Amino acid sequence: MLKAIIFDLDGVIVSTDNYHYRAWKMMADKEGIYFDREINNRLRGVSRLESLEIILECSPKNYSESEKQNLMEYKNQVYLNLLDELSEKDILPGILDLLNFLKEKKYLMAIGSSSKNAKKILKQIGLLNSFDAIVDGNDIDRSKPAPDVFLIAANKMNIEPSKCAVIEDAFAGIKAAKAAGMLAIAIHNAVKYQDADLFIEEPNDLIQYFNK
Ligand code: BG6
Ligand code: MG
Repeated sequence: MLKAIIFDLDGVIVSTDNYHYRAWKMMADKEGIYFDREINNRLRGVSRLESLEIILECSPKNYSESEKQNLMEYKNQVYLNLLDELSEKDILPGILDLLNFLKEKKYLMAIGSSSKNAKKILKQIGLLNSFDAIVDGNDIDRSKPAPDVFLIAANKMNIEPSKCAVIEDAFAGIKAAKAAGMLAIAIHNAVKYQDADLFIEEPNDLIQYFNK
């Protein structure tokens, strides 16, 4: 029986996935590197450095480690500026109802995000104190598809991985959830991938599922 639900953050709880796209697009345009929404889908769930490496596949130039650092700093600065606009209004539709429902049903809830900016985002959208555990890019060496972020979250909640479900918009996140031995629930972009255990169009579908 499920006891805990672990949420990805960017693209599941809040629309920051689009801010990541806009910030990387500015960096890519500055460098004259081709970048589009399809390439951006490959960046979902993976770390900042891995995201950059994927974008640089489209560049003929070889970037040194310090140039890569500069590009990541540039992107993160643009991203942080975009985050300044972020507020409760950016919480994706149905998420607050789902959180309230799960809380009422006594499920434990966690955030499992690859982002080093996760706590800043949660603070800005007013959800910093809404979870039993928050595990983010600062807590892990290997980002998704490695299971680490979700296993640490389960451990922090003191719940066995097999009693956890993960809600993800990223292929890397679905793979990570499966590798952790958890129920993998795909939403938005992730529904394209067959590996998930459950596919939902919107958070309310999960309320229906748990009410069955
Ligand atoms: C994930 C995003 O949540 O965080 C990725 O899906 C992003 O696209 C990763 O690269 C790292 O984010 P940040 O905020 O640490 O640069
Ligand atoms: Mg995501």
